[in-house]
Amino acid sequence: MSLEEKNLPFDEYIYNDKWRSRTIDIKTYWEYHKKSVENLEEFWASIARELEWFRPWEKVLDASNPPFYKWFVGGELNLSYLAIDRHVKTWRKNKLALIWEGEPVDQTGYPTDRRKFTYYDLWREVNRVAYMLRNNFGIKKGDRITLYLPMIPELPIAMYAAWRIGAITNVVFSGFSADALADRINDSQSRLVITADGFWRRGKVVRLKDIVDKALEKAPSVENVIVYKRLGLNDVPMTEGRDWFWDKAMAGVPHNAYVEPERIESTHPSYMLYTSGTTGKPKGIVHDTGGWAVHVYATMKWVFDLRDDDIYWCTADIGWVTGHSYIVLGPMLMGATQVMYEGAPDFPQPDRWWSIIERYGVTVLYTSPTAIRTFMRFGEEWPRKHDLSTLRIIHSVGEPINPEAWRWAYTNLGYQNVAFGSTWWMTETGGIVISHAPGLYLVPMKAGTNGPPLPGFEADVVDDNGKPVPPGVKGYLVLKRPWPGMLQTIWGDPERYIKTYWSRFPGMFYAGDYAIKDKDGYIWVLGRADEVIKVAGHRLGTYELESALISHPAVAEAAVIGIPDPIKGEVPIAFVVLKQGVAGTDELRKELRQHIRNTVGPIAEPAQIYFVTKLPKTRSGKIMRRLLRAVATGAPLGDVTTLEDETSVEEAKRAYEELK
Ligand code: WT7
Repeated sequence: MSLEEKNLPFDEYIYNDKWRSRTIDIKTYWEYHKKSVENLEEFWASIARELEWFRPWEKVLDASNPPFYKWFVGGELNLSYLAIDRHVKTWRKNKLALIWEGEPVDQTGYPTDRRKFTYYDLWREVNRVAYMLRNNFGIKKGDRITLYLPMIPELPIAMYAAWRIGAITNVVFSGFSADALADRINDSQSRLVITADGFWRRGKVVRLKDIVDKALEKAPSVENVIVYKRLGLNDVPMTEGRDWFWDKAMAGVPHNAYVEPERIESTHPSYMLYTSGTTGKPKGIVHDTGGWAVHVYATMKWVFDLRDDDIYWCTADIGWVTGHSYIVLGPMLMGATQVMYEGAPDFPQPDRWWSIIERYGVTVLYTSPTAIRTFMRFGEEWPRKHDLSTLRIIHSVGEPINPEAWRWAYTNLGYQNVAFGSTWWMTETGGIVISHAPGLYLVPMKAGTNGPPLPGFEADVVDDNGKPVPPGVKGYLVLKRPWPGMLQTIWGDPERYIKTYWSRFPGMFYAGDYAIKDKDGYIWVLGRADEVIKVAGHRLGTYELESALISHPAVAEAAVIGIPDPIKGEVPIAFVVLKQGVAGTDELRKELRQHIRNTVGPIAEPAQIYFVTKLPKTRSGKIMRRLLRAVATGAPLGDVTTLEDETSVEEAKRAYEELK
């Protein structure tokens, strides 16, 4: 595929008045970029020096055992200290750090449930929770704790508290099912789970603790569960001796508890986060402390240009990496004021977000293409009801943004006067890698591009042999040098780390994305090159969905693929072979969809289920999902020489047409 075929506006440069003084031409940018990567260690050291270290590093980058790179070796720091204590020591002490809005709003859309925290407020809470974790539950450095919490202030507070004492957080998205939660607790061997009784979503109560109870039937490593009363439900089942309501868990914690932040080695893991890959179970991606902090801090400055008078809002959920880097850590490293909310973009009306922007005067917005496309469908009248003129920067993340959605948001949210980019990165990179950087220099924008790689990052697009492709030609996205926020390994499986990321192209990090570079060197990421599906920006592996389907007694075999969707980017569909004697009814389709919701989570529900008697496979028995994708999208089948039985494709076609 070439740029032209995709209709990408790769030669259209967009400028606006507000950012003209920061805009530089791309040639000048590349000169600056070149210097940064040629002096990689000095470049990153100069940024790391802006943070406060308890002990300075001895070596910026230890590359003696690739691909197990180590950053800021010998250095000691503490994320909780950097995010909070550091500001409490300055005039920011009583600066507003966090503005939180719960879902309940009145008929006029006004929030009835709000909480605000200054840095000093957070400092008190974090110290008390750290004291509780350490003294009441015996949590110590290196222990894993699983956080299965909705978007409430206690989630970031618990994370800072954990990092204060060197515990490793394992946040599980509150939309995941009991099975998914159990897998993640077991793989991480967590001792403690922190959760809530429930939360609000679209006017309905989601009962979180019930899901935890179900998960714990299969997760024996957990000694204790702490339950925050978000809703105050009075029928929460509590297991004696194991489960504690938050206030009981805090028993004996002094009102002015202080926990000295531990001196954490730069290379000590701060968090792990599970994400989906091509094959096998989700992988626990492990991140260090120092490298991650430096990466996030740098990108916070360059990409979001945060200043003391900004009001920052990242609409992501902390259950994904975006929330880790750009809600929990990034804005707090900057001493910023940020907004956090519970609920959904279209409840009670499609202007919940615009009312939030207007209410707090949000200046910097970090959001997703899926959200923008959803709002496009609701129409301009919703943003028009509100004053969004405070916005000066918008960025999107999670999947490619189509030029139409970019233009819509640039005009209807940004009034054609914002810097607006699509930041490429992934769970594994720990922070943004390819992006416009209005806080540094802004190169001319183009609708739908990711822009050039940031300084200090060397990204390229290569062919099957690892050779750079010429401009305009589709290839694989790789990173050619280590970078500070990079993953350290896959929890408990270093071999898989090497195999997944560093074996396809020796010496390069394989991201798993297709991309093209244009003649200016801007990168346009096109989508996944593997079996990963991005549903509304959320990452799902076909393997998880297929094994969930197979776990149903009616199913013999299943193949799941992602197909394009105008709003969600992609949605999963499933081709299912039923066990002998089972009838493929609509009833069963419904049941299988519900089964996926229960075993993986609502986001994974297939858009359609097709019953077939066999799947297209190679002679060696590998499912040829590529052919199913061709069937569903009407694309040419391509090479079918390895296909074992051609009637399987015919059958898939028939099954597909039948439900059209
Ligand atoms: C995959 C990583 C990074 C936070 C959220 C996603 C896709 C991400 C973009 C973008 C095109 C993007 C890629 C990547 N992706 N951002 N701006 N343009 N594609 O993290 O869940 O680990 O997913 O998301 O396909 O590989 P993740």
